Amino acid sequence: MTQETINTTVAFLHEKGFQKPQVGIVLGTGLGQLVNHLEIEVEINYTDIPNFPVSTVEFHSGKLLYGTLEGKKTIVMQGRFHLYEGYTLQEITFPVRVLKALGITSLLVSNAAGAINLSYKKGDLMLLDDHINLQGGSPLAFKNVSVFGERFTDMCAPYDATLNEKMLAIAKENNIVLHKGIYASVVGPQLETRSEYRYLKIIGADAVGMSTVPEVIVANHLQLPVIAVSVLTDECDPDNLKPVNIPEIIAVAGEAEPKMITLFKTLVSQL
Ligand code: HPA
Repeated sequence: MTQETINTTVAFLHEKGFQKPQVGIVLGTGLGQLVNHLEIEVEINYTDIPNFPVSTVEFHSGKLLYGTLEGKKTIVMQGRFHLYEGYTLQEITFPVRVLKALGITSLLVSNAAGAINLSYKKGDLMLLDDHINLQGGSPLAFKNVSVFGERFTDMCAPYDATLNEKMLAIAKENNIVLHKGIYASVVGPQLETRSEYRYLKIIGADAVGMSTVPEVIVANHLQLPVIAVSVLTDECDPDNLKPVNIPEIIAVAGEAEPKMITLFKTLVSQL
């Protein structure tokens, strides 16, 4: 990766009207409806953005949106890149570097995850307080990383404490259950075995998913305040495990969507 690659993409998006954004939002599985609350000014397919990762067939709907949300100029990533699709960690996190270079000062991330902590229920939301990277690599492990920021990036508090406090207060005011927990990121795309779920519990994870951690590491590299919320779509009980039901996971994420939208919109209004 070079600064020039980032500059080319930034210049292209500037020219298209992505001017002075304050907020960046990454939308996860089944959370796409937030865009209905965005007054969209510009909409570009990932395939049309120079240097964005080359799209897979599945990814033709991936779009970068620019507009106003709660009075704030916002960039929304509708669809994200995953390690399990064959992208590298550097490719997955390239958009975060571009958004930061465009000027965002906060990054809000959502995802779908499985509940390892069995006191959490299907459909509940969880605010990420910390994470465990089990993806077997780092988005910062490349030759010239120090050109872009500190190689030995500190991770003592990867999720912004002020934003997290605000989000917890918003949840309380709106009577939304928002747990605060630890997210473990795995590569996927296969789901976990019973023994892997047991292992995840033992090492201290409250939830497991296949995304988010690379973006959060890069946000920390760029000293960009970041916050992430999971919708818990299934309960990962190793002693009572049923075959995975992807349509159900997507349906649960969809049902929880109004809560997620309330949290994200209200937080943006307070930024
Ligand atoms: N494991 C990994 N990723 C997931 C899960 C899970 O159980 N549920 C939703 N995303």
